Amino acid sequence: MKYTLRCLLLSSISLALVAFHVAASLSAYPTVPGADTGECSVPAGENLVPVRREVYDNGRIIDITHRITSDLPSYESMGSLGKFLWLAFSMKNGSLTNNSEMKLPAHTGTHVDAPGHVYDHYYEAGFDVDTLDLEVLNGPALLVDVPRDKNLTAEVMESLHIPKGVRRVLFRTLNTDRQLMYKKEFDTSYVGFMRDGAKWLVENTDIKLVGIDYLSVAAYDDLIPSHLVFLESREIILVEGLKLEDVPAGVYTVHCLPLRLLGAEGSPIRCILIK
Ligand SMILES: *[C@@H]1O[C@H](CO)[C@@H](O)[C@H](O)[C@H]1NC(C)=O
Ligand SMILES: *[C@@H]1O[C@H](CO)[C@@H](O)[C@H](O)[C@H]1NC(C)=O
Ligand SMILES: *[C@@H]1O[C@H](CO)[C@@H](O)[C@H](O)[C@H]1NC(C)=O
Repeated sequence: MKYTLRCLLLSSISLALVAFHVAASLSAYPTVPGADTGECSVPAGENLVPVRREVYDNGRIIDITHRITSDLPSYESMGSLGKFLWLAFSMKNGSLTNNSEMKLPAHTGTHVDAPGHVYDHYYEAGFDVDTLDLEVLNGPALLVDVPRDKNLTAEVMESLHIPKGVRRVLFRTLNTDRQLMYKKEFDTSYVGFMRDGAKWLVENTDIKLVGIDYLSVAAYDDLIPSHLVFLESREIILVEGLKLEDVPAGVYTVHCLPLRLLGAEGSPIRCILIK
């Protein structure tokens, strides 16, 4: 009974919001079990349905990380990520616990690039994801919409008038409108930085965290040149594959935490925005 009351109370406050987001997440993540209901989770023995959310605390905390599912697109691959998780030990087979194992490309889904990604001498010297500055990955951030008809050139960067002092910017592009992260096949026509856009940003702004809404910050046509420009100083951190739909543009606090993978030039990352 106590549970039911709490559940009802919760429902009256936020069911509409939850229902909206659950519906959105259901269509976005058709493979997620239990994503099709806004029911509260219940004690063992009753109908067990976990709640999966995109926002928390009535929208104050926004998850901008894509769920890792087998349907995620994979860079330069025709097929999606595919099976990445399996039960190595299961209770059904007599184990005391269920223990899963996984295998993932380091640059899967929402992820971060370390300098060793495009500079071999940085890789050799150990500039891996464990060396990334958590201060850069956590702090005030601007979410901006860019013009939908261009890649991120110097001209586009200049037109955004990003003030000096802004150190973290998440760029929302046509990629979000096209829902590219929900398409299984990798799409080379995604929007990203051209070399001159990256160069303009490095030379004219204080931005140290660059976020984007598809698997690479660099446009396919300028893939390596743009990465080289961004990562040369080892001061700029690139966060790719962000989930930026349904978030108003504006100022937030961003929190991004990569795994401490020693020797890895990339890592899946959990990113949230806080209003
Ligand atoms: C353990 O794994 C089995 C599959 O072997 C699954 O059916 C079951 O729900 C899991 N149990 C728990 C407690 O997660
Ligand atoms: C349990 O073990 C059997 C035999 O090794 C195997 O075929 C089956 O896939 C296992 N099931 C799970 C859930 O691990
Ligand atoms: C951006 O560049 C890619 C090639 O890297 C191209 O296919 C795409 O059409 C461009 N997008 C826009 C909006 O100009």
